[in-house]
Amino acid sequence: MRLFQQPAKLAIYPGSFDPITHGHIDVVRRSLKIFDEIIILIAESSQKKSLFSVKERKELIGETFKKEKRVTVDYWSGLLVEYAAQKKAQAIIRGLRAVSDFEYEFQMAAMNKRLNSKIDTFFMMTSEDTYFVSSHLVREVAKLGGALKNIVSPYVEKKLKEKYKR
Ligand SMILES: Nc1ncnc2c1ncn2[C@@H]1O[C@H](COP(=O)(O)OP(=O)(O)OP(=O)(O)O)[C@@H](O)[C@H]1O
Ligand SMILES: [Mg+2]
Repeated sequence: MRLFQQPAKLAIYPGSFDPITHGHIDVVRRSLKIFDEIIILIAESSQKKSLFSVKERKELIGETFKKEKRVTVDYWSGLLVEYAAQKKAQAIIRGLRAVSDFEYEFQMAAMNKRLNSKIDTFFMMTSEDTYFVSSHLVREVAKLGGALKNIVSPYVEKKLKEKYKR
């Protein structure tokens, strides 16, 4: 018997999710073994022009995790650590695919730690099935009419086709 109730462990998984891929889903599924709840946070990026609107990305994520009550989706245009503190989250989750991800992720984690030392970033190593999957490649392949089976969900693939309908 536990004498003290442990607070639920909440993590924020930020990204652009434009669109959500099997890479993201894999990171969430594995993180759910460690955290009780995950908020997938669509974060504004000044460097990226998006294909799907925030509303559409929210809908695609919502559809993907409709049966998983422990996963919710939100949008935030401000500082990530501010959002995390507001929600009383314990951690930020990020994924690592290749060495090329590392430098950017490392800098961002260090900056976030400097901005709020209470919140740690957890890195989830990519899986062998998804290490090559990224949203920008998915958009590229979809634009050229390639199949994306087991890379995005059939629903996301359908929405991509609609976007690039000629
Ligand atoms: N296949 C994957 N395996 C592990 N982590 C991933 C994978 N795809 C994305 N991530 C991680 O998910 C987080 C959010 O990523 P983001 O939404 O930018 O996706 P992305 O695939 O990198 O998109 P883009 O290609 O547009 O940059 C990042 O930490 C990223 O490293
Ligand atoms: Mg990226």
